Amino acid sequence: MLIPNRNYSDLKDSYLFYNISKRIEAYLLKNPGKKLYRMGIGDVTLPLCEAVIKELHAAVEDQAEKKTFHGYMPECGAPFLRGAVAGYYRNRGIELSEDEVFVSSGASDELGDLQDLFDKSCSAMIPEPAYPAYVDANIMAGRRIIHLESGRFDNFLPSPTELLHKLKREGLPVPDLIYICSPNNPTGAVYDRAGLKEWVELANKYGSVILFDAAYEAFIEDDELPHSIFEIEGARTCAIEICSLSKTAGFTGTRLGYTIIPKTLERGGMNINDMWVRNRTTKTNGVSYIIQRGGAAVFTPEGQRQIKKNISLYKENARLLSETAEKLGLWHCGGKNAPYVWMECPNGMKSWDFFDLLLNEVQVIGTPGAGFGACGEGYFRFSAFASPEDTKEAAERLLKLR
Ligand code: MLT
Repeated sequence: MLIPNRNYSDLKDSYLFYNISKRIEAYLLKNPGKKLYRMGIGDVTLPLCEAVIKELHAAVEDQAEKKTFHGYMPECGAPFLRGAVAGYYRNRGIELSEDEVFVSSGASDELGDLQDLFDKSCSAMIPEPAYPAYVDANIMAGRRIIHLESGRFDNFLPSPTELLHKLKREGLPVPDLIYICSPNNPTGAVYDRAGLKEWVELANKYGSVILFDAAYEAFIEDDELPHSIFEIEGARTCAIEICSLSKTAGFTGTRLGYTIIPKTLERGGMNINDMWVRNRTTKTNGVSYIIQRGGAAVFTPEGQRQIKKNISLYKENARLLSETAEKLGLWHCGGKNAPYVWMECPNGMKSWDFFDLLLNEVQVIGTPGAGFGACGEGYFRFSAFASPEDTKEAAERLLKLR
C-alpha cells in the first residue's frame, strides 16, 4: 500500500497567507464590494520598472525569430544573469565566481528545494517569529526543528549565546541547519556585522550550514549594516545565501531569484555547490530565457536607479506606518531598513483578534504576529507594499482606533 508523506499531518491546517486570504474571501462574501486596505502579504503593487519591461519585450521578440530563439536554458542560470549577479556582489566588495550564483524561480521555492541537500536526520534551527515557509518546509521534510524564541528583550535578534543556553537547558545538540533572515521577515530587525559574525563563527565551529535569507537586503539604508552574509569573514565555508527579485524589483508574479553557494562549502566530504549543480541539472530545466533577460536588466545602472525609486516609495509607506504606531503609543520596530513594520497589538489584544477587529471595523488588513510562531503572539505586521494612497488611508483609519 502506498504510504503518503505523513509529515503533512504535522502541519497546521493551512498556510498562513492562505488562511488570511480565506478570511478575507469570507468577509467580502458578507460585505460585497467593500474596499479593503491590504497590508497583509508582502505583495508589491508597483509595476516592473521600465528597464525590465524593455528587456522582456526584446526577449519576446528574440523568441519569435529562428536566429535568436532560445530553447532549454542552462539549468543553473543563463551566463548573462549569473555574471550580472556576480557583478552586483563585486560592486559591494564581494568576489564570487559566476558558478557560485544559481538562478532560481524565487526565494520561497528555493528554500524548499534546498532541503534536498541535507539528510533527513539533520536538525534545523529557526529563530522565531519566522517566515512560516521555513517551518512548514522542514516539517514536510520530517526534520527536527529547534525553535529559538526572540522578543523585545533581544530586539528580535537572537544570538548564538541564546541558542547555546537553550540547547544546554534542553539537552540538545547544535543544529545542523541555521536559518537567518536579515532584514527580518516579519520583524524588520537587521543583524549588524558583529551579530552575523557570531553566527558564522558558531556554524564553522560546529559544522552547521547557515541558510541566509537576504530577500530584503535592498531595503537596507544604514551604511554600516551588512547586505550579505558574505561580507563576513568565514561565511564562505558555512553559508548559503538565498535572494529574490520579488520585493526588490517587483517580480512576485514574474518569479525570479538567485542563490549563492560558495565552491568552498563542504560538509561530510561532499561539495555543496557540486551537489546543487547535480540537483538543478536533474530537477529543473532552468528559468525561462525571457524572465532571465528581464532580471538581468535589474542589475544595470538604469535598472538599479529605477528599482531604488520604487523601493523609496515603499519605504515612505513604512515610515508612515511606523509613525502611526508611534502616534498610537504602540511599541514597534522595523520599517527603517525593511519593508515590514512590526508592532504590538493595542490593549494586550491577541494577534488574530486584532486582525478581526481591523478587518471588520476599519477594513485594514495586516498579518497576525502569531502566524509567525508562538512568540509573535500579541504582535502584528504591516507590509509597506500597498499604494501610498491606500497606506495613507489605512494609517488614518488606524488612528481612529485611539
Ligand atoms: C510575506 O508577506 O511574508 C511574503 O510576501 C511572503 C513571501 O515572500 O512568500
